[in-house]
Amino acid sequence: MSLPRTFGDALALARGQVPASEARLLLREASGASAAAIVGFPERALAPDAAARFTAWIARRAAGEPVAYILGEREFYGRRFAVSPDVLIPRPETELLVEQALARIPDGTADVLDLGTGSGAIAITLALEAPQARVTAVDISPAALAVARSNAEQLGGQVRWREGSWFSGVAGERFDLVVSNPPYVASEDPHLLAGDVRFEPRGALASGPEGLDDIRAIAGAAPDALNAGGWLLLEHGYDQGDAARAILISAGFVEVATAQDLAGLDRVSFGRLP
Ligand SMILES: C[S@@+](CC[C@H](N)C(=O)[O-])C[C@H]1O[C@@H](n2cnc3c(N)ncnc32)[C@H](O)[C@@H]1O
Repeated sequence: MSLPRTFGDALALARGQVPASEARLLLREASGASAAAIVGFPERALAPDAAARFTAWIARRAAGEPVAYILGEREFYGRRFAVSPDVLIPRPETELLVEQALARIPDGTADVLDLGTGSGAIAITLALEAPQARVTAVDISPAALAVARSNAEQLGGQVRWREGSWFSGVAGERFDLVVSNPPYVASEDPHLLAGDVRFEPRGALASGPEGLDDIRAIAGAAPDALNAGGWLLLEHGYDQGDAARAILISAGFVEVATAQDLAGLDRVSFGRLP
C-alpha cells in the first residue's frame, strides 16, 4: 500500500475508517504539525516516517484500539498522563471526584488516600493541586503501580505508592479523606465487550453482578481507616447514585449526598464519618 504524501491524502485515507476528529489528532501527533496546518494546508507534504506512523495508527484505531493506548497518553486535569493497557484510561468525569476532594482538603496538612489508583491520575493531581496534603495511593495491580510511579516521576507529584487490595495496602493507618474510582460495571454488562472498553483491564472495570461489590467493600471498611470527621468519596455509574448513598448510610456515614457530572448525571457519592 502506498503511503499518503500530503496532509490531505492522509485524511482521505482515514475517512470512513475512523472519526474525522480522531484522524486529525493522530495526524497532528504523527507529523508534529499544528491543527491549523493540517486543516488549512491539505497540499502540504507529509514526511515518509510520519506517513508510515499515521497509516499504522489508523489501522490500529480502525481495529478498535483506543486512541489513548495508541498514543500512550491521555490528558487529565490539564496534564498528560502516560497510559498503557495495564491501566484504565482516565475519564473526564473523574475530574469531578478530584474537585470534590480538593474542596475537602483544608489549608493545613491532610492525609489523603486514593484507592485503585491505576495511572495515578487522581493521586498525582491531588498531590500537585494540594501540595500541603500527604497523598497515598493503593492498587492491587503491580503493573498499574509501575505506570503510576512513572507518571509521578514525569509530572512531579509526591505520592506514597502501596500494593494491595483496598485498605489492606495501608493496614492500621488512618486518613482524613479517602477517594476512589473503583471498578463499578456489572460483570455481565455487554458494554464490557464493546468499543474501547474491551481493550481496558477487566479488573479495573467489573465488580460483581450489579457492579457494586467494590463500592460495598470500600464503604464497609472505610470507617476503620478514616479519622473522625473524615470523608469518603466514591465515583460510580450514572444509575448507581441511590445504591451508593444507601451503602454509605448503612456503613455509618452522615451528610451523605451525590454530586452530578457536567452531563447532569449522578457520578460521585460521599459521606462523612461522624
Ligand atoms: C476504574 S479503575 C480507576 C483507575 C484510576 N483511579 C482512574 O480513575 O483513572 C479501578 C482501579 O482499581 C484497581 N483495583 C481493582 N480491584 C482492586 C482491589 N481489590 N484493591 C486495590 N485496587 C483494585 C484496578 O487495578 C484499577 O486500577
